[in-house]
This record gives sequence, C-alpha cells and structure tokens, in this order.
Amino acid sequence: MKKQALTSLLQITHPVIMAPMFLVSNTRMVIEGMKSGVAGCIPALNYRTLEELKTAIQELKAAKVSGGSFGFNLIVNKSNVKYKEQLRILCEEKVDFILTSLGSPEETIIEAHKAGIKVFCDVTDLAFAKKVESLGADALVAVNNQAGGHRGNIDPETLIKQLNENTSLPVISAGGVGSKTDLDKMLSFGAVGVSVGSPFIASIESGVSQDYKQACVDYGAKDIVMTERISGTPCTVINTPYVQKVGTKQTWLETLLNKNKSLKKWVKMIRFYIGMKATEKAATQVTYKTVWVAGPSIEDTKAILPVSEIVSKLVK
Ligand SMILES: Cc1cc2nc3c(=O)[nH]c(=O)nc-3n(C[C@H](O)[C@H](O)[C@H](O)COP(=O)(O)O)c2cc1C
Repeated sequence: MKKQALTSLLQITHPVIMAPMFLVSNTRMVIEGMKSGVAGCIPALNYRTLEELKTAIQELKAAKVSGGSFGFNLIVNKSNVKYKEQLRILCEEKVDFILTSLGSPEETIIEAHKAGIKVFCDVTDLAFAKKVESLGADALVAVNNQAGGHRGNIDPETLIKQLNENTSLPVISAGGVGSKTDLDKMLSFGAVGVSVGSPFIASIESGVSQDYKQACVDYGAKDIVMTERISGTPCTVINTPYVQKVGTKQTWLETLLNKNKSLKKWVKMIRFYIGMKATEKAATQVTYKTVWVAGPSIEDTKAILPVSEIVSKLVK
C-alpha cells in the first residue's frame, strides 16, 4: 500500500521536519524553516508558562507561509507535570501537528483529533508502533540508533522497513540525517520524510550559547557518547573533557534507588528535573560544565549557518 508522503500530510514543500529539541528549538528557527518549505516542531516544555506557550503558537500562526507548517512536541508521561494544560492549549490554539514522546499518546490522539490536529508518535520499535497505530496515530516518527537525544536501538534501514511492512502508517525517519545523501537514503528505505535535529543546533537562529554551536562544528560523529547522567535514560552528548571527567554512568546511589520499586518513579522525576536544569545551564551559559546534547549527524556541520542554508544543504 502506498503511504501518504510527508509533504502531503503537512502541506510542505520538502519532506523534512525540523525536530523538536529541548532548550534549542525556538520560534525564530521554525519561522525560517517554514519560509524554506519545511515543518518545524518545538517542545512544549521549552516554555516555562502556558502563557508563553500560547504566545509562541500565535507568533507561528501569524508567520505561517504556504509550503511550511509547525507543530509542538508533547511529553506524555508523568515526568511532564504540565502535560494536561499543554495539551489543552495546543488543541485550543490549533497547531498543525503534535509529536508525542515518552509514554502512551492515547489521550493526546483523542483530544487532538477532536480539534482536527494530526498526531505523530515517536517510536523506537515495532511493538510500540503497533500500539500507537491501534490508538489512531497519523504517522510514526521512527527514532533510530543514529538519533541525537534519547536514541533508539535499531539501525535506520531495519527500523523503517520493519515499521513499513508491519503497520499501515507513514514512517518519518529520525536520526542520522545531515545531508541530502542521507535524506535520499532514508526515502529509499521507505520513509515518507525525515525529522532532523542535531544539524540545526549550530544555526544562527538557535538560542543556545555560541560555545555549544561551535562544539557542533568542531566535534564529529566519533565524539558522541551515551550518558545516563542527564535524565537517567541514556542520552547522546558530545564527549567534552567535562563529560570525560564526570563519567557517563549513574551514581551508585541512583542505581540503588532505581532498584527500589516504590522510590523509582520519584527518583526518575527528580533526576529528570536536576538533569534538565544542568543541561539548560550548559546550553545557554558559559560554563565549564559542558554537557551538550547532540547526535552523530553533526558530522556534516562545518559552520554556523542560517536555518535556510541548513535546509538547502538537506534538500538541494
Ligand atoms: C539537543 C537535542 C534535544 C532534543 N530534545 C528532544 C525533546 O525535547 N523531545 C523529543 O521528542 N526529542 C528530542 N530530541 C530528539 C529529536 O527530536 C530528534 O528525534 C533527533 O534529533 C533526530 O536525530 P538527529 O539529531 O540525528 O537529527 C532532541 C535531540 C537533540 C539533539
């Protein structure tokens, strides 16, 4: 069965979503992305208050141009205490699409569909893809083992083919795309489009520190390591001298507490909060504690460029 192309699902010119990145994505990037003919997505958690979230959506709606589209990423598990309110605002303000991650998207799909909003779900394997398909998701975002952030375990080709053969949903591939060649490869494996994050960190419009952007230029794929120190769940970071110094494993205390069933949930929430605060500091301020989240697709990042030029590199 032929699956709907991402360009027609979102009414965009090129089959690319600028992926949601905690602390990195902002409206400036998404507006430039829309002008360049792609979709942009921002984590709802990038906004401290619901009012700020609402203002951002209104700014994007006002700036939307033909060939572009915008959505928001919603963390749908218990670590996101603002989930219900964020979902309400996204539905009231009518964003183009919602991208769910971490947890069951059931309620999000029901509420978003009532508002006429499409829901794409992050998946890392077939079992979860089948679950979100049965819940009514509109597309799968297949997070592979090349992705930046909380990556999956399966290589892009295997994952795309497995999801295509065993579900009827369009597959958007996330991870490892830094060039037009990479994009074409994902399409040839059967993806309807791609979700690209790391290559946009070193964009002029992104709000992170100059040092973080420059690190994405100076370091490459071989410098990416997995750490458990940010949220407890393994996450890709640049192997800076600081990361080498503090190590990438959980502390003995965290490991012990995580083994205790009744404490596990709380430890996870607290660890998540502390980790996010530390990453926020590293991402936005000059600090010797350089914990910079990025994936191997920074390999093709050779300069800090405007979003429009990064999109051009991907599609032309
Ligand atoms: C710095 C950074 C922050 C991220 N934050 C989020 C996030 O808040 N929510 C989410 O669903 N995915 C997040 N991701 C994953 C991206 O949305 C996307 O799946 C990933 O970047 C794709 O791999 P790539 O970096 O090789 O393009 C993040 C990735 C990076 C690099």
